Amino acid sequence: MKFRHLVTASALLTLASAAAEEQDMLDFVDPLIGTSDGGHVFPGANLPFGMAKAVADVDKETQGGFASNDGLITGFSHMHDSGTGGGSSLGNFPLFPHTGCPDDELNKCTFMKGRRAVKRVEGSVEAKPGYFAVSMENSIRAEMTTTNHTALYRFTFPSNSTMKRQANALPYSPVILADLTDLSNSRTDGKIKVDQVTGRITGNGTFSPSFGIGTYELHFCADFKGAKVRDAGVWINNRAGNSTNYLVVAKDGNNSPPLPAGAYVQFHRPESDQILARVGVSFFSTDQACKNAEREIEDFDFARVREAAEKAWKSKLGVISVDNTGIDKSLQRLFWSGLYRSFISPQDYTGENPLWESDEPYFDSYYCIWDSFRSTHPLLTLMDPHAQALMVRSLLDIYKHEGKLPDCRMSLCKGFTQGGSNADNLLADSYLKGLKDGIDWDLAYEAVISDAEEQPPIWTVGGRGGLASWKKLGYIPTDDFDPVGAGLFTRSISRTIEYSYNDFCIAQMSRDMGKIGDAEKYLERSKNWLNMFDPESRSLVNTTGSRDVDHVDSGFKGFLQPRYLNGTFGYQPPTLCTFLNNFHGCYLNPNGHETYEGGSWLYTFYVPHDQATLIPTLGGPETFVDRLRYLHDTPGLLYVGNEQSYLLFFLFHFAGRPGLSSQYAHKYIPDRFNDTTGGIPGNDDSGAMGSFTSLTMMGLYPMSGQNVYLIIPPFFPEVNITNPQTGKTATIRSVNFDTAYENIYIQGAKLDGETYTKSWLTHKFFTEGGTLELTLGPQESTSWGAEDEDLPPSASTHFWEK
Ligand SMILES: *[C@@H]1O[C@H](CO)[C@@H](O)[C@H](O)[C@H]1NC(C)=O
Ligand SMILES: *[C@@H]1O[C@H](CO)[C@@H](O)[C@H](O)[C@H]1NC(C)=O
Ligand SMILES: *[C@@H]1O[C@H](CO)[C@@H](O)[C@H](O)[C@H]1NC(C)=O
Ligand SMILES: *[C@@H]1O[C@H](CO)[C@@H](O)[C@H](O)[C@H]1NC(C)=O
Ligand SMILES: *[C@@H]1O[C@H](CO)[C@@H](O)[C@H](O)[C@H]1NC(C)=O
Ligand SMILES: *[C@@H]1O[C@H](CO)[C@@H](O)[C@H](O)[C@H]1NC(C)=O
Ligand SMILES: *[C@@H]1O[C@H](CO)[C@@H](O)[C@H](O)[C@H]1NC(C)=O
Ligand SMILES: *[C@@H]1O[C@H](CO)[C@@H](O)[C@H](O)[C@H]1NC(C)=O
Repeated sequence: MKFRHLVTASALLTLASAAAEEQDMLDFVDPLIGTSDGGHVFPGANLPFGMAKAVADVDKETQGGFASNDGLITGFSHMHDSGTGGGSSLGNFPLFPHTGCPDDELNKCTFMKGRRAVKRVEGSVEAKPGYFAVSMENSIRAEMTTTNHTALYRFTFPSNSTMKRQANALPYSPVILADLTDLSNSRTDGKIKVDQVTGRITGNGTFSPSFGIGTYELHFCADFKGAKVRDAGVWINNRAGNSTNYLVVAKDGNNSPPLPAGAYVQFHRPESDQILARVGVSFFSTDQACKNAEREIEDFDFARVREAAEKAWKSKLGVISVDNTGIDKSLQRLFWSGLYRSFISPQDYTGENPLWESDEPYFDSYYCIWDSFRSTHPLLTLMDPHAQALMVRSLLDIYKHEGKLPDCRMSLCKGFTQGGSNADNLLADSYLKGLKDGIDWDLAYEAVISDAEEQPPIWTVGGRGGLASWKKLGYIPTDDFDPVGAGLFTRSISRTIEYSYNDFCIAQMSRDMGKIGDAEKYLERSKNWLNMFDPESRSLVNTTGSRDVDHVDSGFKGFLQPRYLNGTFGYQPPTLCTFLNNFHGCYLNPNGHETYEGGSWLYTFYVPHDQATLIPTLGGPETFVDRLRYLHDTPGLLYVGNEQSYLLFFLFHFAGRPGLSSQYAHKYIPDRFNDTTGGIPGNDDSGAMGSFTSLTMMGLYPMSGQNVYLIIPPFFPEVNITNPQTGKTATIRSVNFDTAYENIYIQGAKLDGETYTKSWLTHKFFTEGGTLELTLGPQESTSWGAEDEDLPPSASTHFWEK
């Protein structure tokens, strides 16, 4: 489809602010959701897709920088990733403030991370879009806001009167130190310099990415305002001095942790008890870091920068409005916060990529596409198609210069591929939904064909492995002989099923580009998942929880199973890698089993493109529904904290039972997805959990990689989504909506006034606008979405339909 017209930037702003006047959605954003119990959310100050992400770093559960636990604050750093399941990303060059040093002796101050760390004041954290603040038990309150490449901190020191009340008050002469470190202590070499007159600190270092290979270099530039410089110098271990103003810490070849080192500035008493610290970052040079900071925050005006950040967030979120009449506040927080987190990453590093010269945009922190293709990118395609198009272009530029599309990428480095070459799905999704904005779709096609046909030497960080077997045998043998490249020879089942879907996504692109031969070829390859289906295999399930009673046969037959080069099937208990049986057994390491981060119970359903074949394969719609319910209802069998589980909430649609999808959505929201700090069942993975939650609450499940949205009733009586490019609004409205969620079953629907019985929509609804009116009731309807012609499409039944 084509966009009818483009709205101007100012029209868009009007649209956004009109929505914002009706309800201030920022009041419902709680960045602290997911900051404990493994969510790993970054809760600090940042702009949508901003490179600068400022927060207090703590020493426990450090992945998002800050966490809602009792960890000590070790500093304030300027770049982060959100929701990562790998190591801790970034957090380079933290600042740390002291009010003064005991006895006014510099060397009685603490410098090293482990020693200077201080408790937060309980209940003092304030987190808002574009703003983060926390008080520390050293009586300093730290606030922060950001522009695209610059963090601005405001440290408020205890005033004279507070200080006097303290028995062991420090002499009031603040020290702010900068540390050549990062969250994961990965620095090899580094350099730091302080201007002893102005107090400007510049520095750089070489660090490691958190879930990938190689290293990256980062630079920073810190300036201070609010107090006169008294003394400035460098520190190493716990000793500081001003006899030199620079320090070079090289790799000492000793394999020891990086030497604690940095620079400091000591100030005279700040006139207003506040010191502002402005820190610019750059991947190019300290010069560029300084220029970024000077250009973006010349005036050190904290209120102005914060306001600009709030405005940026409002305009991103303002394309959606909901009727919130009677809706529980905590559900509203859950909803808006999920949308908010979808705009944290990927991060816009355009103009900051030293790896190659290009006029194309450069986004980074695709962390990882395995996680984000399912809901984050489809949500961005709805809310900010321009940004999604820029991301697609940046992925293609990465392909052009590094040879393969990434599955995961962070800090300018190649990240680990978890399963298939899932950027193929992401590209197909954007292509089928009509994204243009300067995307070179021929190049995109070349990139996905390269994934499908050419195995790279290191397929752990791009492309696919086992391609020879894939082409010859039609599956990834569990004992594959693959001398072509290096990678982890695990996950043969999940790779097979993901490669099948990748090939299906490519087949659709081929079809729509008129490359019919390719379309036929990849459609055929998309059936490969069936080659690992062992119709005879069964699963014993420990449902009794008893040590003595033997596991009971689940009664369901036929699972995806390991399969060898010689064609025979092996056996991996389908419960393996669920909570019932070695939950951690399928991680990305050489001992991982044949299914990635989940069991065969889950993966056997993971055929997003051809449920019409899967359902009879599993015994027909009734058995299929029973089995899917058994998976959801048997405690411990389905873990919903990982992204492959999303599809399983909605597969009931394909069996003509869309009401059950709604039922399970309400089972998990808010029980497993809620607005508490521990309210994410797994890692947020760059907003994957957030985008999934919010889409579900809007009544939509995008079958990412296809032009298909499955429908359930939204959690609000009315939802408007305005496409910022066409200016058209799609409205989903429910008749008989009730806030107690008893009427959660669609009885009938009208699309723009016409009876609509399909349980799914295409993207056209969102680009061209319209009204979908759902009539709800307390019982599952036996007719709506139930007939064959109402079911969402499948490869085997609908592929050639246009
Ligand atoms: C941040 O960068 C984006 C992309 O270049 C730009 O559109 C936006 O205006 C910038 N935001 C601010 C507050 O400068
Ligand atoms: C703090 O005390 C010093 C010295 O007594 C004085 O010069 C300064 O103005 C006071 N600052 C404030 C904010 O009261
Ligand atoms: C740090 O900057 C200096 C120039 O000041 C440069 O020579 C050096 O290569 C840089 N180091 C890193 C790790 O970027
Ligand atoms: C260096 O430290 C000494 C002793 O503390 C101090 O007198 C001097 O002013 C400092 N010099 C600079 C440049 O900070
Ligand atoms: C949705 O948009 C329609 C018209 O475009 C408007 O009448 C309605 O009030 C909006 N609803 C919400 C929840 O914003
Ligand atoms: C069944 O699971 C429970 C925990 O859920 C475990 O304690 C018990 O040992 C298991 N039984 C068998 C036979 O493995
Ligand atoms: C096929 O290969 C597997 C794995 O090497 C082996 O266990 C099995 O016995 C072989 N089957 C036959 C029929 O040779
Ligand atoms: C919120 O979600 C978490 C994570 O899934 C869950 O452990 C917790 O029980 C839920 N809390 C509430 C109050 O529902």
